[in-house]
Amino acid sequence: MQNICKSFGGPLVLNNVNFEVDKGEIHALLGENGAGKSTLMNILGGVVHANSGEILIDGCPVKISSPSDAQKYGIAFVHQELNVVNDLKVYENLFLGREILKRGILDINSMRKATWEVLDKMNVKLSPDAMVKDLDTSYKQVVEIAKALLQNARIIIFDEPTTSLSNTEIENLFNIMRTLKEQNVSMIFISHKLKEVIEICDTYTILRDGVVVANGKISDSKGKITIDELARHMVGKEMYAHTIYREREIGKPLLEVNQLSLDGVFKDLSFTINKGEIVGFTGLLGDGRSEMAQCLFGYNKHYTGSINFKGKNIVVRSTEDALKCGIGYVPRNRKENGIIKHLTIKENFSIVTLKKFIKGIFINGKREKDACCAMLKQLNTKFGSIDDPIISLSGGNQQKVVLSKWLETNPDLLILDNPTQGVDVGAKDDIYTIIMDLATKGITIMLLSNEPQEIMRVCDRAYVMYHGSIQGELSRSEMTEENFMVLATGGTLQ
Ligand SMILES: Nc1ncnc2c1ncn2[C@@H]1O[C@H](COP(=O)(O)OP(=O)(O)OP(=O)(O)O)[C@@H](O)[C@H]1O
Ligand SMILES: [Mg+2]
Repeated sequence: MQNICKSFGGPLVLNNVNFEVDKGEIHALLGENGAGKSTLMNILGGVVHANSGEILIDGCPVKISSPSDAQKYGIAFVHQELNVVNDLKVYENLFLGREILKRGILDINSMRKATWEVLDKMNVKLSPDAMVKDLDTSYKQVVEIAKALLQNARIIIFDEPTTSLSNTEIENLFNIMRTLKEQNVSMIFISHKLKEVIEICDTYTILRDGVVVANGKISDSKGKITIDELARHMVGKEMYAHTIYREREIGKPLLEVNQLSLDGVFKDLSFTINKGEIVGFTGLLGDGRSEMAQCLFGYNKHYTGSINFKGKNIVVRSTEDALKCGIGYVPRNRKENGIIKHLTIKENFSIVTLKKFIKGIFINGKREKDACCAMLKQLNTKFGSIDDPIISLSGGNQQKVVLSKWLETNPDLLILDNPTQGVDVGAKDDIYTIIMDLATKGITIMLLSNEPQEIMRVCDRAYVMYHGSIQGELSRSEMTEENFMVLATGGTLQ
């Protein structure tokens, strides 16, 4: 891509960008939230049109005016926004628009078989006939990736493909990427998880405010580039990894869960969380932790077992029940569950917090607006006016909007599911600092996360789940990546 410029009416979001990927290369495209990564790839994918600049494939200029043009040139796209159709089955999604026909009739058997094969390669247990709407977000992400893998593309764009996946699934994806690389497929990998980037990528380009500020090889004769060096280019200044965890006084039990079960999803979960404590929950795909949180927040009322909260047995049959009790909840994949696409940033603020909650805990009006603006700034959110449409923000900045609202509220218990999903390195630390501050004020936090690293940054204790049960509990001193891995894969500690 040569001299690409793009503006959406306002200032340039891409300014004379040059971007080159070789055959059989995995190229990282990096930058803070709002740097222009998705926009650049949307231009390559024919979703967005550049104001000026050229795209060359095999050295020849090409015109990519639509996604189908891109497909014609062998470009497949795993979008940052999930692009799956909820009302179709898994295999129907994979072949949407490219159905296999046999004598003019849909060849369902071939499509199902190919679906089995690709899912098997990814080591994911998922039926081709499952309805996509019944799937958890992380499985939808798997469907999205599988769709691209099936296209026999020459260039695959992965725009944050691993935000909902845990280490094991990511490793499977990386193995597939390595195989594709041997077949000379080129891949562009966008991720805020810099450790992954260093593991899988050969080369990198870093954007800052729409300008290329660095590019090169991940490894050269001097060794591998470090996470700190990449981060420094991204933010334009030195990043210091400071310790965020603080010892605090922990209070009496606040939440006692006894034998909580949900048919076919999780079984006999029993645990206690104390006031002011930050407790992590982690595990692999299908561990049941998100569904457990949804029960505590009243999204799913078909559970059995007891929940004791603030010394009283409570029955959470609706989200209103949960809010009334003082439970707040930030769902994972906020793009699907938290954002109303046709509303503005400000309207989205008010939507995520239910009316009752605003009355109960918030002083309405200007103060609320000011508080939200302040929090958005604190998380370094890139936005023009809070009256702009939410979809004019970059993916990570949309996430920050939803999160900041909840971080401002003061529930007794705040459940955060994957709170740093899609958020850049600098803002991650800001979020951890806010979590620590909330806990210091006495707010109890349940932190659900795919990343042991994240739990180790802030949690006092952690539960590791496996196939719907609690496989083990780790105290702060026992938290090592290895211990997390052993428990998450069903093992026990010596
Ligand atoms: N449809 C649009 N209308 C107006 N502005 C837009 C639109 N899409 C993107 N932008 C702006 O372009 C800039 C770059 O956004 P982009 O989505 O490319 O960022 P990104 O690097 O992918 O960030 P993230 O890591 O958060 O996904 C942002 O300032 C964003 O607000
Ligand atoms: Mg993006």
